[in-house]
Amino acid sequence: MKFESKSAQKLTALITGASSGLGESIARNCAGRGHDLILVSENAKELNRVRNEIKGRFSCSVTIIVLDLFRPDSADRLFDLCNRRRFTVDILVNCAGIFLNIDREMREIDCVDNILNLHIASFTKLCFLFGRLMIERRRGYILNVSSIAAYFPDPASLTYGPTKRYILSLSEALHCEWKRHNVRVTCITPGGIDTNFFKANNVFVPRIIKSSQISPEKCAEIGLGALFKGKARITPGIRGKLQSVFLRALARPSTYDIIKKSYFSMKERQ
Ligand SMILES: NC(=O)c1ccc[n+]([C@@H]2O[C@H](COP(=O)([O-])OP(=O)(O)OC[C@H]3O[C@@H](n4cnc5c(N)ncnc54)[C@H](OP(=O)(O)O)[C@@H]3O)[C@@H](O)[C@H]2O)c1
Repeated sequence: MKFESKSAQKLTALITGASSGLGESIARNCAGRGHDLILVSENAKELNRVRNEIKGRFSCSVTIIVLDLFRPDSADRLFDLCNRRRFTVDILVNCAGIFLNIDREMREIDCVDNILNLHIASFTKLCFLFGRLMIERRRGYILNVSSIAAYFPDPASLTYGPTKRYILSLSEALHCEWKRHNVRVTCITPGGIDTNFFKANNVFVPRIIKSSQISPEKCAEIGLGALFKGKARITPGIRGKLQSVFLRALARPSTYDIIKKSYFSMKERQ
């Protein structure tokens, strides 16, 4: 099956975190490939904006579902809703994500529940609920969005990297196990993407990382390309790949203090 441009078959893609940034670009890219869309986030206004823009440009159906994926029951609710409306989800994209600053994690310990529910509990349940039906149909695609923060201890957040590592780890296990059922699972581990993600979460991003950010459109194209080619994981862009190798080699527990010091001194200077 060729997906580089338009697909021969119209599939239905359910995309979480589709109200902005990478999720929005993935939605547009899927629409460009001729697929119908189910867009999920908790922001009705932004989902409506994305739906109207896509419907104005592409001939596909676009359904929006407003849902808070922090809620522990949200994956079940989303799955039930899709079943009630008789949607067949052929492509699941788990893109919704948040960042937690280290100060906030230590101050408001309860906010850690949100990142655990979103990146671990809801994410896992969505893979299993929709994945099981894909296995029964013997066809399906799951694209999971992790981060290069999965690879090293990050001085900016204690929970973001580890939860993204879980996403990567589960994705790889599913990739290996579900291949025989013709269900493709790919994990994307981007470096910097030019979205509002870090600004909205009040995160300092060093200039060196900022200068190598890629556009969400490019990231979406690379991620979906890897998914339809059946790759297990991908870090988009040459600079992202280099950063990933560099950070994995350099940012180790033994060098954590040096990395942390230079991160916060860059923050003070910039
Ligand atoms: N930007 C980067 O440099 C970068 C790098 C590596 C990985 N990533 C990953 O890429 C993904 C997309 O991020 P982005 O850069 O596109 O940032 P973004 O524009 O802030 O997108 C985050 C998306 O997640 C959704 N979301 C957050 N909390 C939610 C909740 N409780 N329930 C439902 N949806 C929720 C947001 O929807 P609402 O409108 O409802 O808030 C939004 O659509 C994230 O998983 C992030 O970790 C980003």
